[in-house]
Amino acid sequence: MEVPKIQLLLESEVPQKVEKKFRELIKERERGIPTAYLIGEWEFFGRVFKVSKGVLVPRPETEILVEKVLELIPKREKLKGFEVGTGSGCISISLLLERQNLRMLGTDINPEAVQLTHENAVAHGVKNRLKVRCGSLFEPFRGTKVDFVVSNPPYIPEGMWESLSPEVRIEGRHSLIGGREGFEFIEMLVEDSLKVLKRGGLIALEIGHDQSQKVKETMETKGFKKLKVFRDYSGYERVIIAWN
Ligand SMILES: C[S@@+](CC[C@H](N)C(=O)[O-])C[C@H]1O[C@@H](n2cnc3c(N)ncnc32)[C@H](O)[C@@H]1O
Repeated sequence: MEVPKIQLLLESEVPQKVEKKFRELIKERERGIPTAYLIGEWEFFGRVFKVSKGVLVPRPETEILVEKVLELIPKREKLKGFEVGTGSGCISISLLLERQNLRMLGTDINPEAVQLTHENAVAHGVKNRLKVRCGSLFEPFRGTKVDFVVSNPPYIPEGMWESLSPEVRIEGRHSLIGGREGFEFIEMLVEDSLKVLKRGGLIALEIGHDQSQKVKETMETKGFKKLKVFRDYSGYERVIIAWN
C-alpha cells in the first residue's frame, strides 16, 4: 500500500493495514529475503530498476563496468553493443540512457531475466533501442556483428555455492556460478566474443576479485591486444577491457 513518507511522519497512528504489511516484510527480511526483493526495486547508476527473485540484484561494482564502457567507447559514432546475461537489464539500460547513439542486443539464459530486462527497458523508455532474447551467450543473435561486448558474467566457482549465504543463493545459480573453477563461463564468453566483434571492437567484463591474471592471459592468448584493468572500491582488479 502506497503511503507518502510525510503522512507516516505526521500521523500519530499508523493505519492497521500498513502496520500489518510492515510486520510481514520484517518477518520476510528475518528469513533472509533481501530488501531489494521485498521492495521490488533497487538503485543502479542513479536510477531505479525493478528486481525479482532469481535475478541478480544490481551491485555497486557493476557501476564501474558501466562507467568505464562509457569512457572508452567512441562518443559520436552510432554504435551497437551486445550484453551477455542482462539480468535486470541494468547495464544495457544505463548505457542506453547515457548515450543516444547506442543500440544494444542482449541475451539471458533465464526467461525471467529476459522478461525483467524488457519491463525495465519499457519503464526507462529505451525499448526501441534494446532487443533482448532468451538463450545462451551470443546464440540468439547468431551472425550479428557488434562494436562492443559487455558482461557481468557468473564467475563464482561451483564448490563455493554451499558456502554462500541463503540471501545470496536466492539470486539463483545461473546468476552466480561460472563453472567448476568459476572461470569456464568467462573463457567461453571471451572466445565467442571474437566471432561477433568487429575489428577494433572491445570487450568489457566484470570479473571475480582473484581472476584478473587468468582472464588477462586468456584474452591475450585468444588474440585481444590492448588491455586495461580497473579496480573496485575495495582495491580488487574488477573490470577488464580489451580490444581485438
Ligand atoms: C552475474 S548476473 C548479471 C546480471 C546483470 N547483468 C547485472 O549485472 O546485474 C549473470 C547473468 O548471466 C545469465 N546467464 C547465465 N548463463 C548464461 C548463458 N549461458 N547465456 C546468457 N546468459 C547467461 C544469468 O541468468 C544472469 O542473469
